[in-house]
Formats: sequence, C-alpha cells, structure tokens
Amino acid sequence: MLEQSEAEALLEEARQAGGSAYAPYSGFHVGAALLDAGGSVHTGANVENASYGLSTCAERAAVACAVGQGVREFRAIAVAGPDDREPCLPCGSCRQILHEFAPDLVVVVTAPGHGFREIPLSDLLPDAFGADTLAQSRHREEESG
Ligand code: THU
Repeated sequence: MLEQSEAEALLEEARQAGGSAYAPYSGFHVGAALLDAGGSVHTGANVENASYGLSTCAERAAVACAVGQGVREFRAIAVAGPDDREPCLPCGSCRQILHEFAPDLVVVVTAPGHGFREIPLSDLLPDAFGADTLAQSRHREEESG
C-alpha cells in the first residue's frame, strides 16, 4: 500500500495523463500513472482507432512506455476515468498485462467521498495465469524426461 500523499499524487498524475487521451469514439478519457520501484512515474492515456478493436487502454500505454525504457519493476498504478465519481478499474486484459510484470501491484482508483481506494491487483485477478504457470509445466516435462 502507498502513503496517502503518494496515492493522491499518483492519482493526480493519472488525471492529468487522461487529458492526452485520444478517445473520439467512446468519449471516455482515461489516464494511468504507473509508479516504478525506483520512484519514477510512467503515464499513459487511451488511444482509440476508427477500427475500434485496435484501441489501446491507458494502463497498457503506461506499461509499454515504462518497459520500452527498460523499466520492469512496479509498485502501483493509478487509473482515472473521465469522472471522479465513478472509479475506473482496469479492464480484464489490462489486469493480465499488469500481472505479467507486477503480481503484487497496488491499483489506486478514485472513491467518491474517500478520495481514493487502493486495491491489490491479486484481488482483481485471483488465481492468475502467469509466467510461473508455464515454468512449472516446463519443469515437470524436464523431470519426466
Ligand atoms: N479504457 C481504458 O483505457 N482503461 C480501462 O481500464 C477501461 C477502458 C478505455 C478503452 C476505450 O478507449 C475506452 O476506455 C472505452 O472503453
């Protein structure tokens, strides 16, 4: 979990990142701010396309930005939708993408009346499929020759 001031600052960065969203089709602007293990923040916004299925979520954009710069260890991600009264939780695909790099990630979203809420990613994606699942399977194959 984050300090209150840290969570609020991260959420504010997510709100600001949402200002760069390209969402002419849904009109739903999302910003994400990903806090890495070194304390730096990587932001992203959703980028839509006339071919709707090619649209990219804000969370994924933030992950791609960080990983493309060689950063792979993360503590938390804040996500802000267009309206603070409605918390914007990561979609299912983004939960899986976040799990790839940070199974212990903390997700920060807005919470009407409370400012923000922190949720462990493992609560949002329980019993996740991940790299360790593949590694265990490979290990068993090697053992059985
Ligand atoms: N979206 C995100 O960027 N993140 C989420 O967690 C949920 C959905 C975007 C995708 C699309 O551009 C718009 O919001 C409406 O679904």
